[in-house]
Amino acid sequence: MLDAIRLGPEDDATAVTAAQLREVVQRLVRAGQWRSSVHRIGPAPAAGPSCQSTRLCPVLTSTHRRGVWPARAGRYIHRSSVDRHNPVGCRRPFVDTAGMFSDAEAAALYDVMSPWDPARSPEVGFCTELVMTAGAVLDVGCGTGSMLHYARDLGHTGRLVGLDPDQGMLDRAKRRTDIEWVSGVAADAAWDREFDLATMTSNAFQCLVTDDELRASLTAIRTSLREGGRFAFGTRHPQARAWESWNPSNAFDIEDATGHKLRMWHEVDSVVGDVVTFTETTAERDDTVLRVDRTNLRFLDVPALAKFLTEAGFAIENQYGDWHRGPITETSREIITIARRI
Ligand SMILES: C[S@@+](CC[C@H](N)C(=O)[O-])C[C@H]1O[C@@H](n2cnc3c(N)ncnc32)[C@H](O)[C@@H]1O
Repeated sequence: MLDAIRLGPEDDATAVTAAQLREVVQRLVRAGQWRSSVHRIGPAPAAGPSCQSTRLCPVLTSTHRRGVWPARAGRYIHRSSVDRHNPVGCRRPFVDTAGMFSDAEAAALYDVMSPWDPARSPEVGFCTELVMTAGAVLDVGCGTGSMLHYARDLGHTGRLVGLDPDQGMLDRAKRRTDIEWVSGVAADAAWDREFDLATMTSNAFQCLVTDDELRASLTAIRTSLREGGRFAFGTRHPQARAWESWNPSNAFDIEDATGHKLRMWHEVDSVVGDVVTFTETTAERDDTVLRVDRTNLRFLDVPALAKFLTEAGFAIENQYGDWHRGPITETSREIITIARRI
């Protein structure tokens, strides 16, 4: 629907006729996607899968959360964040956000949605036990650094290093200067046998999507660990099909730290093999869209995960189906792994 009217590089967006716009609306109506709150139609620079062949294509700037516009409008798709309690995934910077909701605001909102709080998530207790007994800890995909902040607050005196590719998130992490913060993806980890423990919390592991990225990341993490060092992480079990609840009917309202009242929702674009692509939309309470972030997450099952870990030189020490160290069963929603460098 986004490319219902396509313009070539030489075309003038202002020359789009009323008849053409009417045709777009009619197509939306026929597709059952028209909503009364879809009230603006405007041009957007071409980018993304739907607009590759043109430099300019009009899109529907729907303000409705069940509307048509976000899913393929790559130009506006930027990042995503994960809530420990809400769905969502990883930041994948794509493009700009038209300045409507900045990366810094998004990172701050992430902390509102996903505080590293033992009362909110059993993952916190699980990780705290491991981190506090490890001398040197590398947190891969550390985001805003809340896990390492928490460990320092609890009195961890050893070396704490956070690694993340998202500058907005890392800038928040850097508010604390008694921890090392490094910009980069997991595969960039360039330490050689310096850590007792590596972690990837809040399903950051699922951001490793391609086989190549998984292999490179696991190799780099393993190299960063001392002999016998451990790598602890969780990943959503594919059998729970978590993505099925990531739809606009589960939109939720939230207020950021400044009191800005927001509405958020998710929408799955595709499920291809074990990779789920979805968008996260941040909007005003009247559904005016502020930013749309697209994410790919990989849902490895137990055998596939074991294969990648073994090939990378890890032995699985323990694997759980929940953060209370219960076994993996056919109803488990998580796969929690502690792997040891061999
Ligand atoms: C869901 S957030 C989790 C943040 C943090 N671990 C937490 O528990 O709050 C996922 C993080 O993974 C990061 N990420 C995405 N791709 C990554 C990669 N290839 N290597 C390392 N981190 C990555 C994102 O930037 C994001 O900060």
